[in-house]
Amino acid sequence: MPDAILIKNGHIVDPSQGIDGVGDILIKDGKIVRIVLQSDRATVTAAQSHYHTIDATGLFVLPGLVDIHAHLREPGFEYKETIKTGTMAAVKGGITSVCCMPNTNPVNDNKTVTEFILRKTYAEGSCYVYPIGAITKGQKGEELAEMAMMHEAGCVAFSDDGRPVMSSLIMRRALEYSRALNVPIISHCEDMSLSEGGVMNEGRLSAQMGLRGIPYASEDAMVARDIILSELTGGRLHIAHVSTEGSVRLIRQAKERGIKVTAETCPHYFTITEDAVKGYNTNAKVNPPLRTQRDVEAIKEGLRDGTIDVIATDHAPHHRDEKLQEFDKAPSGISGFETALSLSLRLVYEGILTMSQLVEKMAIISARILGIDAGALKVGFDADIVIVDINREFKVESEKFLSKGKNTPFEGWTLKGMPVITICKGKVYDWRQNE
Ligand code: DOR
Repeated sequence: MPDAILIKNGHIVDPSQGIDGVGDILIKDGKIVRIVLQSDRATVTAAQSHYHTIDATGLFVLPGLVDIHAHLREPGFEYKETIKTGTMAAVKGGITSVCCMPNTNPVNDNKTVTEFILRKTYAEGSCYVYPIGAITKGQKGEELAEMAMMHEAGCVAFSDDGRPVMSSLIMRRALEYSRALNVPIISHCEDMSLSEGGVMNEGRLSAQMGLRGIPYASEDAMVARDIILSELTGGRLHIAHVSTEGSVRLIRQAKERGIKVTAETCPHYFTITEDAVKGYNTNAKVNPPLRTQRDVEAIKEGLRDGTIDVIATDHAPHHRDEKLQEFDKAPSGISGFETALSLSLRLVYEGILTMSQLVEKMAIISARILGIDAGALKVGFDADIVIVDINREFKVESEKFLSKGKNTPFEGWTLKGMPVITICKGKVYDWRQNE
């Protein structure tokens, strides 16, 4: 990276500081040193010849995105993804901070695994990685993991994602610890006794396709339980990948009552429905499953009115051969890093969110929930920045993904709006050069 970079004339958006206007950003030694808006009747001019200048005229300049929910698969499933390939794919998607879920092998349920992930990131990662520790040992739901030790080692949140914590007592204890440690518990809400054996949304389509369904009640029942436990304990509850109308309603009511709950959804839950699995398309198999148009509308409303705080990717790369199995046997998950921002921009085009609100949901609020210094264009912060061309169209071609996971239900879609430059960890990536 050149010693100094000047991003000129871009539309800078950072609602955490009330910034929404055209201006310049000056970066020195990887840190933001000045932000000047044209409305202040000033531009950064000093010694411009020494700077690497990026002309951002007509482009949006946003904080690098903070993804609160992703799977990097290392250690143990390097054939699906590694920290090296996953972080590179994240950066391509404009994401500069990634939280990685603990369902690795071994599970990240102790500080040795946490430290391994951080060491690997330091050596090979293109962006920042924040490990999420398991709530229970081996994610078995039976015994709490050493949360305090993992927190000390660098875990920013705890989750058994991929599996629910079925025991209410263990969830209660986890929430009590979360309160003491002041970290969120990220809950994968699924009542396994209701979802058992299910592979898609339960309804007419699952009956037609002859596949076992997962009812919305499987998610809603656990969201309700966890909200009640959060109220009981005062612990910090964050609901992962909201997919149902009922969850949105329950979270809205809980927030109205002042309970400490936050929630995320993912682009696939507000973009497509269960129809995407027609033809037994395993790339649309995900857990929780894609639901109905009614759920999609409720999630959009939840995003609009602030019930859903955050958009996360739930980037879940799988190997092509695994997804080539029969629908019942194929693993659940969507490779999300390289389409998340473009799919989410559709909410801005539809008038559901403003660009500022999108930045809040994809960077600022996620960083706040995690308690990390990221997701904002603040003087003194690392220059983690994504420059977006909202008019540029591209075709989703998973072969071109930098992620090893080619499993996307958006193959062949034409999307409008994409990151054209990402700046992270002292490097400038200009994605236009590879086109
Ligand atoms: O679809 C999913 N895939 N949902 C999860 O909760 C886990 C994830 C994975 O790890 O593949």
